[in-house]
Amino acid sequence: MPSILTTGFLYSQFIFRPAYPKGTLDGQTILITGANVGLGLEAARHVVRLGASRVILGVRNVKAGEQAKQEIENSNSRPGVCEVWEVDLASYSSVLAFGDRISKLPRLDSAILNAGLATQTFELAEGYERTITVNVFGTLLMGLLLLPKLKATKADYPETHPHLTFVVSEVHRIPDFEEWKEDNILQILSDKNKAQMDIRYPLSKLLEVLVVLELAGRVRGSEVIVNMVNPGFCHSQLGREAGFAFGVMKFILARSTEVGSRTLLAGILTGLESHGSYMSDGLVENTGLSSFVRSSDGAKARTKVWNEVTTILEGARPGILQNI
Ligand SMILES: NC(=O)c1ccc[n+]([C@@H]2O[C@H](COP(=O)([O-])OP(=O)(O)OC[C@H]3O[C@@H](n4cnc5c(N)ncnc54)[C@H](OP(=O)(O)O)[C@@H]3O)[C@@H](O)[C@H]2O)c1
Repeated sequence: MPSILTTGFLYSQFIFRPAYPKGTLDGQTILITGANVGLGLEAARHVVRLGASRVILGVRNVKAGEQAKQEIENSNSRPGVCEVWEVDLASYSSVLAFGDRISKLPRLDSAILNAGLATQTFELAEGYERTITVNVFGTLLMGLLLLPKLKATKADYPETHPHLTFVVSEVHRIPDFEEWKEDNILQILSDKNKAQMDIRYPLSKLLEVLVVLELAGRVRGSEVIVNMVNPGFCHSQLGREAGFAFGVMKFILARSTEVGSRTLLAGILTGLESHGSYMSDGLVENTGLSSFVRSSDGAKARTKVWNEVTTILEGARPGILQNI
């Protein structure tokens, strides 16, 4: 953690305020995953305030999603705008069913892939360590499934500019990720005897950054803007398993959930200049990517991780890469 306590980090947490989201999402259909609590819920509230016609809350807990829907609609006095759709990113069959449901929508203007897991408990899901399955496999699979509908929306409604926004984190800079040099990186990371669960969440975010960069390099920004946002250190349920020291640090340093959620909105409101970019505080800031990610080793690691992850996803849905 000390490595991220740079002047830039403290400046972001205490002084800089990401801009309050403005503009219009009139007529648009927007998906936000993990929208029952935390940053996703506050982002959904902004999306409804900005006039979106249809807001899909992708959640694994439908009851919590229904409560969030009520709260968001009441606070905006816009009943009936939100829909609660169930999805568990730890299960390929759930993500695939969700993607098939999305494909039947008349349009999808933007998606904020926000749902994420931070846990120090080792468990497997779909044969790999669960944090990686949720934050990397499930999230990328969802992104790939959404691409055809996002592209079709651009074709049908040329005035819109679809966005696929991934919520990552500056903690991607923490892990060393020496495993990238090995074969079968993801199998090694899913070995219970070797997994370093204390840095698993940051590592999962590093893997997510790598696959999003690769995806963005393969998607035409003129069709779908693919970007990633770092919300900063925010109050939310994310550290629910963390101990007292983390709670104290959060109390002192974290920005409010609403302020953090503005950065998610920036992801879907910023133009083509954000394609393939890392955004912090609502601004394109590729220098925020770790020196490893920007290095030649990082580029090699990115190719290896992409190949491994997409081989596994092709097993879950043969031909999925053709969606790009
Ligand atoms: N808070 C921060 O300081 C911070 C900083 C940088 C990045 N982020 C990123 O911001 C995003 C949102 O996190 P948050 O801080 O708002 O945390 P949060 O309050 O814990 O919200 C996480 C959301 O993800 C959902 N989720 C977890 N596992 C899931 C699964 N298997 N399938 C579907 N949904 C699942 C959670 O659902 P349940 O409620 O059912 O568990 C919840 O809705 C995450 O991607 C996180 O990595 C957060």
